[in-house]
Amino acid sequence: MGVLDLASSRAAAATIVVLGLVLSFGVVCNGGKTSSFVRKVEKTVDMPLDSDVFKVPPGYNAPQQVHITQGDQLGKAVIVSWVTVDEPGSSSVLYWSANSKKKKAEGKITTYKFYNYTSGYIHHTTVRNLMFNTKYYYVVGIGHTERQFWFITPPEVGPDASYTFGLIGDLGQSYDSNKTLTHYELNPQKGQAVLFVGDLSYADNYTNHDNVRWDTWGRFVERSVAYQPWIWTAGNHEIDFAPEIGETKPFKPYSHRYHVPYKASGSTSPFWYSIKRASAYIIVLSSYSAYGKYTPQYKWLEEELPKVNRSETPWLIVLMHSPWYNSYNYHYMEGETMRVMYERWFVTYKVDVVFAGHVHAYERSERVSNVAYNIVNGICKPVKDQYAPVYITIGDGGNLEGLATNMTEPQPDYSAYREASFGHATFNIKNRTHAYYSWHRNQDGYAVKADSMWFFNRFYHPVDDSTSAE
Ligand SMILES: *[C@@H]1O[C@H](CO)[C@@H](O)[C@H](O)[C@H]1NC(C)=O
Ligand SMILES: *[C@@H]1O[C@H](CO)[C@@H](O)[C@H](O)[C@H]1NC(C)=O
Ligand SMILES: *[C@@H]1O[C@H](CO)[C@@H](O)[C@H](O)[C@H]1NC(C)=O
Ligand SMILES: *[C@@H]1O[C@H](CO)[C@@H](O)[C@H](O)[C@H]1NC(C)=O
Ligand SMILES: *[C@@H]1O[C@H](CO)[C@@H](O)[C@H](O)[C@H]1NC(C)=O
Ligand SMILES: *[C@@H]1O[C@H](CO)[C@@H](O)[C@H](O)[C@H]1NC(C)=O
Ligand SMILES: [Fe+2]
Repeated sequence: MGVLDLASSRAAAATIVVLGLVLSFGVVCNGGKTSSFVRKVEKTVDMPLDSDVFKVPPGYNAPQQVHITQGDQLGKAVIVSWVTVDEPGSSSVLYWSANSKKKKAEGKITTYKFYNYTSGYIHHTTVRNLMFNTKYYYVVGIGHTERQFWFITPPEVGPDASYTFGLIGDLGQSYDSNKTLTHYELNPQKGQAVLFVGDLSYADNYTNHDNVRWDTWGRFVERSVAYQPWIWTAGNHEIDFAPEIGETKPFKPYSHRYHVPYKASGSTSPFWYSIKRASAYIIVLSSYSAYGKYTPQYKWLEEELPKVNRSETPWLIVLMHSPWYNSYNYHYMEGETMRVMYERWFVTYKVDVVFAGHVHAYERSERVSNVAYNIVNGICKPVKDQYAPVYITIGDGGNLEGLATNMTEPQPDYSAYREASFGHATFNIKNRTHAYYSWHRNQDGYAVKADSMWFFNRFYHPVDDSTSAE
C-alpha cells in the first residue's frame, strides 16, 4: 500500500479529532514530511487577567515586567528594563558577580499614552563592561521594593564558543503560550538566550489594543526573560497602528517597552540590527519596515553582510517575522517581496539558517534558493542549493489566534518537515562546524525531539546536511 493512499484516507479521519487523543504519524511526500500528529482541539484562549502568571509583585512601587536583552555588539552589556506603577522611582541597577564588588548603573524612564491607556514608568538601564561567561546578580527597585535576579553573560565571541539558543515565536498569552514557555524552561537542552521571531503580546487583539495586555505579557514572561536575554524581532502585532482611535505612530508600545542595541551595529532604527553572541552573528530584519532598494534597511543590510567575519563568528543566523518559504495557506507569499530583494545576498554570504514566525505552525525547509529568475527566463522554481540557508518557521508559540492547519498540497519539494502543533526549538552550537537543532512540540515530554537536524556550518563545513534522501 502506498504511503500516499494512507495519507488521503487519514486526511479525512483527521478532521474528526478525538479530544485528547495523541497520535504520532508521519507521511512521506515528495521527499518532505507532513506530520499528521493529531492534537487536542481545545480552543486557544488567553489566560484571564487574574491568572497566577499575571500576578503583580507585592510591595510599594515594586518593579514588574523585568526583562533583559543584549546591550552591545559583543555581549559585554545588558539592557535591563522594568516597569514601576506607583511613582517613577529609581532607574539604578545594582549588579555584581561572585568576585567583584557591587556597582551601580543608571538609566532612563519613558512613558507613553495609547488612546485612553497611560503606561507605567518604563525603565531602561544598560549595564556595561561585564566579563564574559560570568554570572551576575542584579537588583532593581532601589529605594522602594527591591527585587533581585541574575543572568549569565555569554562566552567571548570566537569561532568555537558553544552556545544554545532557544527559538520562540508568536507567543501571546494563552494557556498554550504558558505551555510553550514551560516546555522551553524545562527542556534539558537548556537554552541560554532566546531568539524571539516577533509577535509578543497580541494586545492588539483587544478593544482599543488594550495595552493592559502588554503589561500582563511582560509579567507572564518575566520568569524567563529576567534571567536570560531575549533577542527581539518586530512582528505585525507590534505595529499597533490604529488610526480609528487616533493612534498612527507604528510600533509605539513595542518601541517604548523593548529596547535593543541597534546603534551598536550602525543601524538607524531599532527594527533592524545585529549582534554577535558566542560563535553566532545574528541579523534581525523588519518585515514591517521599508526594505526596498535605497531604503535605510536595504542600505544597512547591504553594508552589514560583508562585515560578517566567519572566522570570528562562523554561524550566520537571520531573524525576521514573515517567512520567505512557507507552504501553509496562511500569510501565503507575504514574505515574497522581501525574498525577491534579499535572497541573492543570503546565498552569496552563505547564511546558515533563517528563522521566522508569523504562520502559527512549524516548518523546516531544505537548503533551497530561488534566485535564477529574471522575468523572462521562466526559471522561477526553488532549487536545492547547498549555499542557501535552511528556512525555519517557528510561529507556533501558542497565541490566541490558534493553529494554522491548512497546508498547500502537495507538500512542495523545498519543504522538509511541517506540522501544525505548538512548540519551540533550540539551536545548539557545538563548535565551528556542527550545530544540533531540534523542535519540541508541547504535547510531548520535555526531552522529546519531534524534528531535528545536524547543521553543518556553511563556511567551515559546507557539505550536504539535508535530512531527506535525494
Ligand atoms: C478606555 O475606554 C474603554 C471603552 O472604550 C473603557 O472600557 C476602558 O475602561 C477605558 N480605560 C481607561 C483606562 O479609561
Ligand atoms: C502556567 O505555567 C506555570 C508553570 O507550569 C504554572 O505554574 C501556572 O499555574 C500556569 N498558569 C496558567 C494560568 O496556566
Ligand atoms: C576575522 O577574524 C579573525 C579571527 O578573529 C581575525 O584573525 C581576522 O583578522 C579577521 N579578519 C578581518 C578582515 O577582520
Ligand atoms: C482576536 O482574535 C480572534 C481569534 O483569532 C479573532 O477572531 C478576532 O477577530 C480578533 N479580534 C481583534 C479585535 O483583532
Ligand atoms: C485551505 O485553504 C485553501 C486555499 O486558501 C482553501 O481553498 C480551502 O478551502 C481551505 N481549506 C479549509 C479546510 O479551510
Ligand atoms: C564539533 O562537534 C561535533 C559534534 O559534537 C563533533 O563530532 C566534532 O568532532 C567537533 N569538531 C571538533 C573539531 O571538535
Ligand atoms: Fe504574525
